[in-house]
Amino acid sequence: MSLVSTPIIQVRDLTMRFAKKEAVSAISFDVPRGVIHGFIGPNGAGKTTTIRILASLLVPTSGGAWIDGANVVTEPEEVRRRLGYMPDYVGVYEGLSVQEYLDFFALAHRLAPARRRASVADVIELTDLGNLLETEVHVLSKGMRQRLCLAQTLLHEPDLLILDEPASGLDPRARIEFRGLLTELRRLGKTVFLSSHILSELSSICDSVSIIEKGVLLADGSIEEIQMRLRGATVAYEVTLLEESTEVESILREIPQVGSVLLEGRKLRFDWDGEDALIHQVWGALAARKIAFTGVRREEDDLESLFMSLTSGEVQ
Ligand SMILES: Nc1ncnc2c1ncn2[C@@H]1O[C@H](COP(=O)(O)OP(=O)(O)O)[C@@H](O)[C@H]1O
Ligand SMILES: [Mg+2]
Repeated sequence: MSLVSTPIIQVRDLTMRFAKKEAVSAISFDVPRGVIHGFIGPNGAGKTTTIRILASLLVPTSGGAWIDGANVVTEPEEVRRRLGYMPDYVGVYEGLSVQEYLDFFALAHRLAPARRRASVADVIELTDLGNLLETEVHVLSKGMRQRLCLAQTLLHEPDLLILDEPASGLDPRARIEFRGLLTELRRLGKTVFLSSHILSELSSICDSVSIIEKGVLLADGSIEEIQMRLRGATVAYEVTLLEESTEVESILREIPQVGSVLLEGRKLRFDWDGEDALIHQVWGALAARKIAFTGVRREEDDLESLFMSLTSGEVQ
């Protein structure tokens, strides 16, 4: 029996060596339930290898992984029941309609007939394929084909979805719709683990990420946690002054938590090494000298800049 608090994915010292190459080198991470977790890294980083191990399709050289507490090596059938896996390349069988295709896979899961019909109807509604039931699968657009494949991975009602580069090759509209679908799955309580080598695909929807390069895990956690680790406690503020001021630099330098200060006309930029709760000292000091400002922006690193500072920048 699994506890609700157990991470839905646990990876410990996972290593995969092929003949000449170590594709995955002793990586460890957890993924909690109910989140969208991005697995990000350039081509060749080891994402597909890791995912195939999680899906119980590849046996690791050493280390281990557990899906909802089930061991991927010793309990592969249990693992496959608990997750839906969408590979990076999905071919669809020619000559079947969308309805026939889903019926076929529902049968393959050996669901009882009533559950089978309900499950097919549910995934059709969720993926919005209702208008295409009679369409032959090989004429579907890439975006619709992707939806169909996702529908297929959902048929046995897994709590966890593992999607390998699901958005690659989708046009911008299909990509946005796909993100909407993933958010909907999270709302339904599913956990989504998905890989990508393109950061902008994931940054807006991921609750947490693991970043991998050359088989090594570089960072892992919520985007905020990774930011904190990377930059320590320093954040940058940009302030727009109402009028140019020559005193402002010296005023700021009197405050110990202020790092470098840059003033260009009415734009003031400074680093802050203190706690967020103490930033009012800066505003107070400016107000005391009657220096008015019209705007304040706290600079947040986005996922792209984080990634660039972590990796050698091979990613788009
Ligand atoms: N079956 C295999 N035999 C030998 N090398 C492999 C095999 N599968 C993957 N690799 C190598 O392992 C590395 C990681 O590959 P992969 O996991 O597919 O990366 P990603 O999905 O991040 O692009 C690559 O250098 C790849 O060439
Ligand atoms: Mg891959």
